[in-house]
Amino acid sequence: MIDTEALRTQPELDGENVVLAQLDDSYFAAAWEAVRDPEVIRLTGTHTKFTEEQIHRFLASRPGLEDRADYAILRKEDRAYLGDVVLSDIDEHNRSGGFRIALTGPDVFGKGYGTEATKLLLDYAFDVVGLHRVSLEVFAHNPRARRVYEKCGFVREGIQRQALWWDGEWHDVITMAVLKTDPRP
Ligand SMILES: CC(C)(COP(=O)(O)OP(=O)(O)OC[C@H]1O[C@@H](n2cnc3c(N)ncnc32)[C@H](O)[C@@H]1OP(=O)(O)O)[C@@H](O)C(=O)NCCC(=O)NCCS
Repeated sequence: MIDTEALRTQPELDGENVVLAQLDDSYFAAAWEAVRDPEVIRLTGTHTKFTEEQIHRFLASRPGLEDRADYAILRKEDRAYLGDVVLSDIDEHNRSGGFRIALTGPDVFGKGYGTEATKLLLDYAFDVVGLHRVSLEVFAHNPRARRVYEKCGFVREGIQRQALWWDGEWHDVITMAVLKTDPRP
């Protein structure tokens, strides 16, 4: 059994330098900047060009869902919005879910926020929601993200060859997962 109530209510997750809080439309301004940042777009392979209306609708519809948890990553000292981290595609029968994370842009990369947010979300996924497995996909050309995932316990499981067409070239996609029983550094 997984705890769907924990997904619906999404408790705030408290770390040393970041806090994870329910994502909602109050973060629109910063989230709208992030979806238009060229480096975030490149590293997430986002082909879609979103409208403001789509982002408002997406953010406003996040609270109360029972099959996923969308968290805003906030800097602890001033609760500034740093990005989002998501547990999605929850499969109750197999107690599994998917993971994604994106900070708002290069000015906040490389400061440890992504590692801390990933660890907080995994602790929530395994210890609170009761999942057994969390998986993700990452582009081969994203060594920073790959390093963060390895540091948080994700294990490389496979490679989807030339699964992304970007800027006139094919790129490989790496699949990784972490189990509840794996070491979580
Ligand atoms: C990926 C992301 C979440 C990582 O968060 P972050 O806060 O920037 O990363 P951290 O500061 O916590 O850790 C970065 C680690 O990568 C390492 N790193 C940075 N650049 C690297 C590179 N080119 N090669 C290898 N390692 C690299 C750092 O040294 C650090 O590891 P260390 O602590 O062992 O020294 C963030 O950069 C981001 O949102 N990027 C844009 C969107 C994205 O790529 N999302 C993931 C899509 S799968």
